[in-house]
Amino acid sequence: MARRTLIAGNWKMNLTVAEAQPLVAALKARTAAMAGVDVAVCPPFTSLAAVVAATAGTPIQVGAQNVHWEQAGAFTGEVSAAMLREVGVTCVIIGHSERRQYFGETDATVNARLRAALGSGLMPIVCIGETLRQRDAGETEAVVRGQVAEGLAGLTPEQLGRSVIAYEPVWAIGTGRTATPEQAQEVHRFLRGLLRDAFGGVAEEVRILYGGSMKPGNAASLLAQADIDGGLIGGASLKAEDFLGIIAGA
Ligand code: 13P
Repeated sequence: MARRTLIAGNWKMNLTVAEAQPLVAALKARTAAMAGVDVAVCPPFTSLAAVVAATAGTPIQVGAQNVHWEQAGAFTGEVSAAMLREVGVTCVIIGHSERRQYFGETDATVNARLRAALGSGLMPIVCIGETLRQRDAGETEAVVRGQVAEGLAGLTPEQLGRSVIAYEPVWAIGTGRTATPEQAQEVHRFLRGLLRDAFGGVAEEVRILYGGSMKPGNAASLLAQADIDGGLIGGASLKAEDFLGIIAGA
């Protein structure tokens, strides 16, 4: 089955509501270039409602960068899936390496957030990937195997089918050091095999995105790989020309 390419921009902690306006306007002006590709932008929480409003009626989807596992309650600083749904958000990034590295995110919390997202109809984009130390130690496959086993634990095949996985080697994030298409494809193929073993044939329908210094100049060769079904873009998603260039590469 053909998997539809997804290009998602992770704005991280960048762009105020005002600063996002020219970027969103530039993307809206070029939605014709998005035919055949799914496109999403993931602004900070404070900009979600404004970006949803600004992209209404376009094919651009809006995602959040995190979601809490409870529906409501005494969880200062957190945001629930229902709150995201209410403002028109359709997808959510879960378990980004920056959250794992700086905010204590674990595979167990990833799993809890993932269940909450799926339970409320959000499309989760679950991030996994190894550090440079782990890669150099030959641990890449063991690391992603563990992240998949624990992060996706207990999901049904139907739920996996509504999920997106993002392979983001930590050493390639924001470093300008992209994984080669062959390095990325090797892990993506391994990942799809893990999903097939655990969930069966639905693995062929799951989109596995690559993330880590994806740019207009390297996007096409990465996206041409058999098991790379899109990109999760950080820095290059903050500039309309770069983001559109990656979409063109798809
Ligand atoms: P960069 O594209 O800036 O390397 O960031 C990738 C990323 O972390 C996307 O989630």
